[in-house]
Amino acid sequence: MNRKIYISLAILCVLVLSLQAACFARTPDKLPNVKILATGGTIAGSGATNTTTVGYTAAVTPVDALINNVPELKKIANVSGEQISQIASENMTNEVWLKLAKQVNTLLSQDDVDGIVITHGTDTLEETAYFLNLVVKSEKPVVVVGSMRPPTAMSADGMLNLYRATILAGSREAAGKGVLVMLNDTIHAGRDVTKTITDRVDTFRAPEIGPLGFFTGDKPVFYRAPLRKHTVFTEFDISQLTDLPRVDIVYHYANNTGDVIKALTQAGVKGIVHAGTGNGSIGKVEYPAVEAAQEKGVVIVRSARVGNGIVARNGEANDDKYNFVAGDNLNPQKARILLMLALTKTSNPEDIQRMFWEY
Ligand code: DGL
Repeated sequence: MNRKIYISLAILCVLVLSLQAACFARTPDKLPNVKILATGGTIAGSGATNTTTVGYTAAVTPVDALINNVPELKKIANVSGEQISQIASENMTNEVWLKLAKQVNTLLSQDDVDGIVITHGTDTLEETAYFLNLVVKSEKPVVVVGSMRPPTAMSADGMLNLYRATILAGSREAAGKGVLVMLNDTIHAGRDVTKTITDRVDTFRAPEIGPLGFFTGDKPVFYRAPLRKHTVFTEFDISQLTDLPRVDIVYHYANNTGDVIKALTQAGVKGIVHAGTGNGSIGKVEYPAVEAAQEKGVVIVRSARVGNGIVARNGEANDDKYNFVAGDNLNPQKARILLMLALTKTSNPEDIQRMFWEY
């Protein structure tokens, strides 16, 4: 009798364990649906040898090949790809940004899309990430990913970056945190991250503020969330735009003359970001050109070339008197993006200053 009981109990245990496994197994209908939008960059690059990590060709591998090169993607998400562009990201344009942003918003409005990964060159990745952070109208995860080595190189970083970005884009933890950047096991906020090293895999950092979290194995771990406005809380709408107001950046340095500001004013810019020395200082010699620009309606944002810290309002310049906008802690290339979008709403420096304190 005992023998029959033991056999019955053993069969019961096996059935229970199998049922448990079945419940937790992520069958295809339980996997998140993640769209991979490809724009180009090193992650789609190719080098002449497996030791070529500089001097390779960026933006040559199509999105379907990127996906097929990482078969493990199919175990963690239902993925499908779309080629938005095929460019090295130093060639990024407003046209691609607007096409990408509109497609992201269209896809995320669909119930059958749970998250989006954008593959991108690292040179302007931080700009695209911040632009999307300000115009995506969804709380679903959007993860921008790139690589510093082409897929043809030993220890190429792109495949694992793409794999983890896809996990992140399909995760609940990543929702509501704005546009994220994932490379080198590290999760950054699109607003704060910047490329800090010309040629190493640990190039993306958020100076002074730090990452939002990290990957440990296949698990994303968050330690904080962004506080500045993003995605569904922004006032910017690009849905009807076909271009963006022209904003350029002027770099300040010893013996600067102000001639670049004059040239940009003549070229018809709507805004200038001044990458000032120290705490956003403008040289005395630049003021005639600055005032001439403002007479033409050009909005001036004071940023800083130093890369860290807050540009204080009325610190190194009388912002109240000259109607300058203090750029907070955004680096010049990020301040430019916020100013471009601000100018789609207003050219009032006070309104724009509010935006720099909020985003
Ligand atoms: N040409 C650069 C770009 O496409 C290569 C850097 C990279 O993608 O990592 O951004």
